[in-house]
Amino acid sequence: MSNVRTSTIPTVDLNDGHVIPQLGFGVFQIPPRDTASAVSVALEAGYRHIDTAEMYGNEQGVGEAVRASGLDRADVYITSKLNNGFHRPDDARTAFAQTLSELGTEYVDLFLIHWPLPTLYDGDFVTTWKTLEEFSQDGRARSIGVSNFQVAHLERLAAECDVVPAVNQVELHPYFGNGEVDAYGRAHGIRTEAWAPIAQGKVLGDPVLGEIAGRLGKSPAQVALRWHIQRGNIVFPKSTTPARIKENFELFDFQLEPDDVEKIDALDRGEAGRDGPNPDSFAYVPG
Ligand SMILES: NC(=O)c1ccc[n+]([C@@H]2O[C@H](COP(=O)([O-])OP(=O)(O)OC[C@H]3O[C@@H](n4cnc5c(N)ncnc54)[C@H](OP(=O)(O)O)[C@@H]3O)[C@@H](O)[C@H]2O)c1
Repeated sequence: MSNVRTSTIPTVDLNDGHVIPQLGFGVFQIPPRDTASAVSVALEAGYRHIDTAEMYGNEQGVGEAVRASGLDRADVYITSKLNNGFHRPDDARTAFAQTLSELGTEYVDLFLIHWPLPTLYDGDFVTTWKTLEEFSQDGRARSIGVSNFQVAHLERLAAECDVVPAVNQVELHPYFGNGEVDAYGRAHGIRTEAWAPIAQGKVLGDPVLGEIAGRLGKSPAQVALRWHIQRGNIVFPKSTTPARIKENFELFDFQLEPDDVEKIDALDRGEAGRDGPNPDSFAYVPG
């Protein structure tokens, strides 16, 4: 079987010397009982990068599928993220140990602060970040990063911490380019991971994507995902439909011409295109 180093999926260099496969498989909203089978289909299709989170409740299924695949642990890139209820240092340490236990692995490739939660914890995501630095120093997280951080949050980390996040995982799709956050990352060596890369399906009926897809003999999802790949974003579309899981992996036998890239860029609706919560006010903590 192929591995992270020899797979056909391109890798992206991170600022800490590690690499990440540019295309992965996301498991948000996959019920725990269905997760192992969906991840098994993805691994069988060739994916070598799985994106989960403590709050998804399905890390165990991810670990189960990786073990059942027969692949070496080193050949599958696994990301998880800190539960919003566990930002204080001792809680974060406990939660991170629980992630490793649920996944049944000694390390994760990437661990993220899932949300900055600037209205909770006295606005202190800096101490939380310094706690993640411990996990990277002791080797249990190969890389560390953040998710849903706005420019002001990244600037604060830059001012108060030594370690620059390897990635910032944010909402980004043709209707929401998240331009300022993406540009800040590009300027400061922080890779952008695009969550909801097809806006949970909402961009797929767009006539611009439909026209390009029809002309190239591809699906609108493949065109949207290829647009991300050519921008340099890291993506991990989610699906529980085996045919779509395979379809979303077939992105490397065609290219978008600059004209088509520009047409998709022009679909950006700015803040109005945001589909998920605004990180400046999001304050959800699981009950
Ligand atoms: N950090 C964060 O705060 C955050 C937030 C959201 C998501 N994420 C991550 O990003 C990943 C992807 O985002 P997402 O799951 O929200 O949305 P997404 O990948 O943009 O879209 C998933 C939806 O699109 C459908 N779909 C997938 N491929 C398709 C295709 N080829 N044709 C038609 N429909 C298709 C899926 O349906 P079926 O499953 O029914 O096939 C599902 O309803 C997540 O799984 C998670 O890992 C992170």
